[in-house]
Amino acid sequence: MTPDRSVDPVAAEMQHTYDRYFSSEGYRHRYPQPNAATLDFLLANGARTATKILDFGCGNGRYALALLAESNANVTAFDISAASLTEFADALKRTPYGARVAFVHDDLTALGKPASYDLILMLFGVLSHVGDRATRVRTLSTLRRLLRNDGRLILSVPSIFRRRPWELLKAVLARRLGRAQPPQDEAGNIHFTRLVNGDSLTFFYHLYTLRDLRADLAAAGFAIQRCEAESVLPEWWVTQSRILRGLDRIVSRWIAPSLGYGIRVLARPV
Ligand SMILES: C[S@@+](CC[C@H](N)C(=O)[O-])C[C@H]1O[C@@H](n2cnc3c(N)ncnc32)[C@H](O)[C@@H]1O
Repeated sequence: MTPDRSVDPVAAEMQHTYDRYFSSEGYRHRYPQPNAATLDFLLANGARTATKILDFGCGNGRYALALLAESNANVTAFDISAASLTEFADALKRTPYGARVAFVHDDLTALGKPASYDLILMLFGVLSHVGDRATRVRTLSTLRRLLRNDGRLILSVPSIFRRRPWELLKAVLARRLGRAQPPQDEAGNIHFTRLVNGDSLTFFYHLYTLRDLRADLAAAGFAIQRCEAESVLPEWWVTQSRILRGLDRIVSRWIAPSLGYGIRVLARPV
C-alpha cells in the first residue's frame, strides 16, 4: 500500500530528490563504495551471521551488495526512491545473489510480520531524512516491531557539530524570530540545496547530537550498545580515496562519536 504523500511533504520531497540523485548517477559517483569502516562495523556486529537483514533506505545497495558477498543472509531492500532500487537491481544482476534479495518500494506494510529480522540497517543519514521527531520515532517504532527481541539495529546519522553550520544558524534565527514553519520549528532540522550534475537537489535533514539520538531510540524501545565516529573526513572523501580512508580510520578511533562527520551506533531492543 503506497502512502499518501500529500500528508507527508518531507517524504515527497526526499523521494523526488533521491530519484533525481540516483537517476543522474550522481550518488554512485560521489559514494562509489561503502565506507569500509562502517562495513567492518556491520560484519563485527552481527551481519556475518545474520539470517534476515532489512536494509531500510538501502539506496543503490552499496552496503547490501557487500553484505551478500560476506554472509548467507536474505536481504530485504527498502527505499522510497524507485530509482535507487532500479540501480540496486541492475547491479544485483551482475552477481550470483539475486535469489537472496527482496525489493520493497515505499510500502511499510510489505516489510513482513513482527519479529521478521535479526538485523536492521539505516545507514548514512536515512533516519535524518525521515522528518520531524514524531515521524522519526514512529518509523523507529515500526522497525522495532519488525526486529526480533534479540536482534540489532545499526544506524548512522549526521552530527550536528560537523554539518551545515550556515543552514543551522539560519534555522536558529528563523525559530528565534518566530518565522520557522514545521518541521523547521524543531531544533536540529534544516533544509539545504546542493548542485549535483547541474541539478539543484533539496534535502531535509535532522542533524543529531548523541543525546538526541539516544532519546529518539529510547522512545522507540532501543538502547545504544556501541557508538563511534563514522568518519572524521566527509564520507565522499573516504569512499573515493584510499589514502584518506586509511588516515581517517586511525583518527576516527580517537575522537568522540559526536565529533565524527557521522555518528555510528549499534542499538538493541530493551
Ligand atoms: C544518504 S542515502 C543513504 C543510502 C544508503 N543507506 C547508503 O548508505 O548509501 C539516504 C537514503 O534514504 C532514503 N530515504 C529518504 N527518506 C526515506 C524514508 N522516509 N524512508 C525510507 N528511505 C528513505 C533515500 O531515498 C536514500 O536512498
